Order: sequence, then structure tokens, then C-alpha cells
Amino acid sequence: MSAEIKTIAIATDGSENVMNAVEWGIGLAKANGAKVSALYVVPHTGVTLAMRGEMWSKALENHLKDEGEKATAYVVEAGKKAGLIVEPVIIDGKTPADGIVDFAKENDTNLIVMGTLGVTGLSHILLGSVAENVVRHAKRPVLVIP
Ligand SMILES: Nc1ncnc2c1ncn2[C@@H]1O[C@H](COP(=O)(O)OP(=O)(O)O)[C@@H](O)[C@H]1O
Ligand SMILES: [Mg+2]
Repeated sequence: MSAEIKTIAIATDGSENVMNAVEWGIGLAKANGAKVSALYVVPHTGVTLAMRGEMWSKALENHLKDEGEKATAYVVEAGKKAGLIVEPVIIDGKTPADGIVDFAKENDTNLIVMGTLGVTGLSHILLGSVAENVVRHAKRPVLVIP
């Protein structure tokens, strides 16, 4: 196994808590000449369509897609400032952890970079559940940034 970093996936939920991870991911990509993808997985609440009503459901879906575009655009912009082209990727239909782990596997990602915490950001918790599940299941290095 080599320690080459040619592909980096930065996972973002668009929160304040992920900003350091974005900086590290971009910095490492620049230092290693790596290709960067910015991943946002559309989170689903598990509330059924029947419980919400269709209009409410569509509005929420659109809102979450917008969140994803904003979150990935932030990483694209940070990349641009460093002279890098970042590929924005929005994944739907999976849990955030599965979306990140599967993307990394399918795209031969050498390093996943993410925050210890995200949108929920409970300060007494060491590691959020998405971060924990990615560390647990990704069969590759994960850099978790506080
Ligand atoms: N929906 C998501 N899409 C992509 N990355 C995510 C998503 N949710 C969380 N992450 C990544 O996981 C990190 C930790 O977030 P998480 O485990 O959800 O903690 P919290 O419980 O504080 O929200 C975030 O900083 C981000 O890098
Ligand atoms: Mg979260």
C-alpha cells in the first residue's frame, strides 16, 4: 500500500464546523497535487410523504438541494482561491455516511476529509454520528478535523 494522495473527498454539510476541514482538504490537495471532490449528501428525516403532504415534501427537498449547492460552492470557491478546480458532488438517496463511504470506494478516493462535528454540533460530543460512521466503515484513511 502506498501513501499517495492523488484524490481527496471533502465531505461538507455546509456548517461552520466544517470550515477548518475545508481549509485542510484544500491545503493538502494543493501540497500533493490531488484532485478534489466536494461531497454533500442530501439528508432525509425519515418522515414519510403521507405524514408531510406532497407540497411540504417538495419544498423541503428543494431546500436541501439548495443547501447542498451552497455547501459545495463554498468548497469550490476555497479551491479557486488556492488555484484548484474542485468538483461539486451532490448525492441523494443514501444516508450521509453511506453516501460518503460509497463515493470514496467507487472513485478510488485516497483520503476523506471531514469535520468532527457538523450542523448539529453538540459540543459535549467528541465525534458526530456521520463522522463516526465514516471512520468506522470507510476502508481508507479519514482525516477528521476539529
Ligand atoms: N449530509 C452530509 N453530507 C456530507 N458531509 C456531511 C454531512 N453531514 C455531516 N457531514 C460531515 O461530517 C462531519 C461531522 O458531522 P456530523 O457527524 O453530522 O456531526 P453533527 O452531529 O455535529 O452534525 C461534518 O463536519 C461534515 O464533514
Ligand atoms: Mg450532522
